[in-house]
Amino acid sequence: MTVAVRSFAKINLGLYIGPRRADGFHDLRTVYQTIALHDLIRVSVTRGSGIEIVCSDPRVPLDSSNTCYRITERVMVALKARGHVTIAIEKRLPVQGGLGAASSNAVATMLGLQQALKKTLSTPQQLEIAAAVGSDLPLFLVGGTVLGVGRGEEVFPLPELQATATVVVTPDVGVSTPRAFADWDARSELTRPDGSDRLSEVCRALSAWLRGNSHAGAPAKVGGRDGNPLSDLVRTGIENDFEKVVFSQYPELRDMKRALERAGSKYASLSGSGSTLYGLFESAEKAATAVSRLRKQGMKAIATRTLTRREYWRRSFAAGR
Ligand code: C5P
Repeated sequence: MTVAVRSFAKINLGLYIGPRRADGFHDLRTVYQTIALHDLIRVSVTRGSGIEIVCSDPRVPLDSSNTCYRITERVMVALKARGHVTIAIEKRLPVQGGLGAASSNAVATMLGLQQALKKTLSTPQQLEIAAAVGSDLPLFLVGGTVLGVGRGEEVFPLPELQATATVVVTPDVGVSTPRAFADWDARSELTRPDGSDRLSEVCRALSAWLRGNSHAGAPAKVGGRDGNPLSDLVRTGIENDFEKVVFSQYPELRDMKRALERAGSKYASLSGSGSTLYGLFESAEKAATAVSRLRKQGMKAIATRTLTRREYWRRSFAAGR
């Protein structure tokens, strides 16, 4: 049996970097938001042993450095399962980074593998395995709008935001996440001793926003003047700290953020450590107009939208139908 799972991307609606911890990771506060762009993962288990990754994109590693490989090893041990696992990755997402594609691919593999084996791990087990493979994996076990704390791996579902038109811009350059964190550490004016106070400030702003939009379950319908709670979130002054180090290294990324704003984006930002940038738009029409304008300026721009938790789960497993 082959199980197909859509592996959706994420963007970061704000990302705050706190102090470097004793384990070398940085304390973070971020809001993750899943979007409709996705890869497709097909998992099958046959007789024998071993893990095989199949992908026609030469930029995707096929060995044990692939996150799908690493999560499969752990899931097989945890489930005490045997077999030859084949993971076929149909790459549609850009691999430049910032969209969590490799992390999402791994979580889709874990979900597909359990279905293929007809065995399930408990939710805490899945979260633990995901966090062991990478900080950005657990969010994909929640989907929708997700608060990320700790090194980003401690995840909490936030109230749903209605679907918002989004434009994703993928520059040709790649940004190394460890290098971006190291650059952050090297900038002493950024790593102030009051770093943890700043994280508390962000949490206060986020909880104020949550209080105004605490509609568990269905997507919140109230919000700013345009009725979108996402506008309220943006007005909390969210920012991505990585811009402070990544834009000085790659000034063309700052120019692309400005181009998104000039093309009508209500809020534009680097996603994660980049290099992907995104902009939020008032409507799908405005996003489509922006895409053609940005493409004329030579940028790789794609129109998409944010994905609620409900849609995320409904569409993840609708891939084979
Ligand atoms: O967990 P993940 O594999 O995504 O992390 C990649 C690298 O990014 C880590 O090895 C670490 O250098 C850095 N990192 C960090 N603080 C975080 C997350 C990642 O310093 N919160």
